[in-house]
Amino acid sequence: MSTVLVTGGAGYIGSHAVKALRAAGHAVVVYDDLSAGHRAAVRGVPLVEGDVRDAARLEAALRRHGASAVMHFAGLLSVEESVREPARYYDHNVRGGLSVLDAMRAAGVDRLVLSSSCAVYGNPVATPIDENHPTDPINAYGGSKLAVERALRDYGRAYGLQSIALRYFNAAGADPDGDLGEDHDPEIHLIPRALDAARGGAPLRVFGDDYPTPDGTCQRDYVHVADIAEAHVRALDAPAPGDGARVYNLGTGTPHSVREVIRSVERVTGRRVPVEAAPRRAGDPPVLFAAAGRIERDLDWRPAHTALDDIVATAWRWHERHPEGFGPTTP
Ligand code: UFG
Repeated sequence: MSTVLVTGGAGYIGSHAVKALRAAGHAVVVYDDLSAGHRAAVRGVPLVEGDVRDAARLEAALRRHGASAVMHFAGLLSVEESVREPARYYDHNVRGGLSVLDAMRAAGVDRLVLSSSCAVYGNPVATPIDENHPTDPINAYGGSKLAVERALRDYGRAYGLQSIALRYFNAAGADPDGDLGEDHDPEIHLIPRALDAARGGAPLRVFGDDYPTPDGTCQRDYVHVADIAEAHVRALDAPAPGDGARVYNLGTGTPHSVREVIRSVERVTGRRVPVEAAPRRAGDPPVLFAAAGRIERDLDWRPAHTALDDIVATAWRWHERHPEGFGPTTP
């Protein structure tokens, strides 16, 4: 078993991946600047505080802990913000990604699992979206992820880097054991916002109800965070790709509209979700859902949580037990 350095391991998806890695017997070191992650989400493993754009610090952490692989989650994640502030996204996500690759080369580490996104596809020309779908991002978030994926291909050919990029659709839900969950500040994602509205918070704003979809609201493929974490472990434990860089979609293959999510939250919580109509949000494609057959075939991965109500129920449990999340983001 290897030691894995997990950037962004104090964040939402990263912390679930750390838990899954430990359950699979891997040693882990978390590298996180705690700008969005939470110290309290890092349990039982060392935490190195640092910015991913600091390649020297990363290299030192890789060497000190004898890491033989990296999972790279750290980065900015708001589609809407990326449209307004592309420079920040290219800086954190692309410069950060290249810095991780530089540090790995310098330390002689040649295995990487990258947190990527279905945002690399842009507006779908066909659904469900498989990995051969054209990549034409419509926002800087997707552009920044695609740029790093491209680098992986080139680094694989030239330097022998073995990488797997996982393009997730919409990460959702929380650790079924109730230890970990989603705690962003500000919270931008649909399910936690709808849960908050159900608990008496601000009404949920529905961003656009005139999309070309059956009920006019956007459709997304919600995939459970524990299933995403499990896919990372499988990607890491798989034989080296050999051909350098691979990409896999992570989704359930079933689209759900914003209105369907609201109804699910109402069923699960037994409360009404007050809603408000709001304009479309910049950078939102109308419909995104995955064909995830490639990872099922190659890595024998399929989601354990497929029912939307089940995904929402894990998020609700976390939300109810941790109304303040993990607490303040800074120590
Ligand atoms: N939405 C609302 N109201 C809200 C929040 C969201 O109507 O308050 C809608 C959005 O417009 C979208 C859907 O709910 O149609 C889902 O929105 P999220 O913000 O939860 O998720 P996104 O689909 O925008 O983004 C997520 C991840 C990104 C990733 C993207 C890929 O946050 O990192 O999926 O589609 F790139």
